[in-house]
Amino acid sequence: MTSSQRDSLADASLSIDPICRVEFGPGRIDRLPDLIATTGHQRAFVVTDRGLRAAGVAERVLKILDSAGVEHAVYDEVAPNPSTGNVDAGAARARAFGPAAVVALGGGSVLDAAKGISLLVGNRDAVAADADDLWEASDGLPLVAVPTTSGTGAETNGFGVIEDTAACRKVYIGHPSVKPRVALLDPELTLGLPAPATAATGLDALVHGIESLASRGANPFSVAYATQAVDMVSRALPAAYRDGSDLDARAELMMGAHLAGQALTLSGLGLVHGIGHALTAHTGTPHGVALAAVLEEVMEFSAPAARDAYEGVARAMRLPAPADGDWARAAVAAVREISAAVEIKRPLRELGADRALLPAIARGAAADAVTKNAPRQPSEAEVLEILTRTY
Ligand SMILES: NC(=O)c1ccc[n+]([C@@H]2O[C@H](COP(=O)([O-])OP(=O)(O)OC[C@H]3O[C@@H](n4cnc5c(N)ncnc54)[C@H](O)[C@@H]3O)[C@@H](O)[C@H]2O)c1
Ligand SMILES: [Fe+2]
Repeated sequence: MTSSQRDSLADASLSIDPICRVEFGPGRIDRLPDLIATTGHQRAFVVTDRGLRAAGVAERVLKILDSAGVEHAVYDEVAPNPSTGNVDAGAARARAFGPAAVVALGGGSVLDAAKGISLLVGNRDAVAADADDLWEASDGLPLVAVPTTSGTGAETNGFGVIEDTAACRKVYIGHPSVKPRVALLDPELTLGLPAPATAATGLDALVHGIESLASRGANPFSVAYATQAVDMVSRALPAAYRDGSDLDARAELMMGAHLAGQALTLSGLGLVHGIGHALTAHTGTPHGVALAAVLEEVMEFSAPAARDAYEGVARAMRLPAPADGDWARAAVAAVREISAAVEIKRPLRELGADRALLPAIARGAAADAVTKNAPRQPSEAEVLEILTRTY
């Protein structure tokens, strides 16, 4: 915890919703039938995607359900950055299947879509485009989240980010009832995740830890989670990238990403995510790649207002004390090394961001809700300057 956060505790008022049940460990997926039963349902509606089918992960999990005699149906058509159409189609199948627990087996895309599907089943006449009105609606079906990437931390919260293709905007679909009842974290399921996806999702987790530590919304709970997350992710990400079959690295990365998710859910994020969202909206760049493009530059911009937090980042990474006492610079240098080790940083011009797009990206980033938690509030012109520097 930084000194400024310690000082502000005198008038702090905190309300922490206890985390969901977490089951962690290699091979833990075998417990899925028992965990489904804890939701009060004996049947399961499984939401997943084609990539998980191709990787054999879905088959492994469905076999476990078969062996335990758990009646189930599968919706496997979730697309990366899922759309309202995906959620509506999945909900139609789930309504036809009837009462069940929803098992979300996949990365953030599947987890987000599954939350929408669960909620629509609880609200028979609703469609995904009604997202803004569903926050006060009836409960959805209970959800068991089984993440297969170590990145988004989407298993820690009750909302999903969905593309409303008709209105051409991102909508947040969510409700307290679709926060997963159980997060089943089995690192064995991530062993086959290809190296570029390991890099992009793992970098997302690292940024969650760093931005959470520097966030205006940081509090002692989020700082505890984020510090441990940065420690684990910074060590495990390069190792998991080098050798995807390294179960130790996969396990550490998965736990670190989950803790980073707990942290960001409590604190909020910052400008790296503000720019990342705008960049992805304009170019389709995968989330983690978009974050990596501007991470060090945003840290340098933010450093004057985040010295304590970046010292926390550097210490969590177990860096030696810098000779010049500049912990923030040491943290940025260490982040640059990790980014290079996982070969993820690209100039914006290689990500499909035409120079003429930069002002619109800057506008989107400055206006994004996540940017409100940035330690140093940027003007649009300052964001444009950062984008130009990384072009
Ligand atoms: N709700 C939240 O809190 C939250 C937070 C951040 C991001 N998100 C959302 O998460 C999505 C991104 O999620 P993501 O980064 O996890 O990627 P993803 O879910 O889109 O998955 C990327 C690809 O990896 C494949 N894959 C996943 N696990 C695999 C495995 N174990 N083996 C082989 N292939 C595998 C998938 O099939 C897919 O093709 C975005 O839609 C973003 O908006 C949500
Ligand atoms: Fe993220």
